Amino acid sequence: MIKVLFVCLGNICRSPMAEFVFKQMVEERSLSDQFEIDSAATESYNEMCHAGIHHGTRDKLKAMQIPFEEHYSRQIRLRDYAYYDYILAMDDSNIEDIQSLVGPDTEHKIHRLLDFTDHPRNIRDPWYTGNFDESYWDIYEGCQAFLEYLLKENNDG
Ligand code: 4NP
Repeated sequence: MIKVLFVCLGNICRSPMAEFVFKQMVEERSLSDQFEIDSAATESYNEMCHAGIHHGTRDKLKAMQIPFEEHYSRQIRLRDYAYYDYILAMDDSNIEDIQSLVGPDTEHKIHRLLDFTDHPRNIRDPWYTGNFDESYWDIYEGCQAFLEYLLKENNDG
């Protein structure tokens, strides 16, 4: 079982989008039973108001025919660091925030999603940009590259 936690600032725009894009990718390859996939926030304010997925993310997932369930924002916890194999952040500030919550990345589990691609970069926050299309294609590229990395690693190992 490979356990993957996608993390962003609010856990209502980018990381739930990544969670459901990646779930669909592994489902298409009949690999769902080999994965546990979830998402979380670095901030706690959306958890406190029990916030669901942002309508911009919902609309984009629907437009791309990617199935999703309801997801309520939750903040990453110390035990998540021990539990998950891969903690995939959307941008540099997420990485700093994750480390301030769970401590130093001694087991090298924390990565920026687009660092698995040939063009490492941050995924801009659609909460501020309003551009959910851009987020989707960045997330799609990152999830594809991450899955290819895992499949290659499995084959080599
Ligand atoms: P996300 O975007 O990190 O992609 O989920 C945000 C969502 C909510 C807020 C900030 C960013 N907020 O300030 O509530």
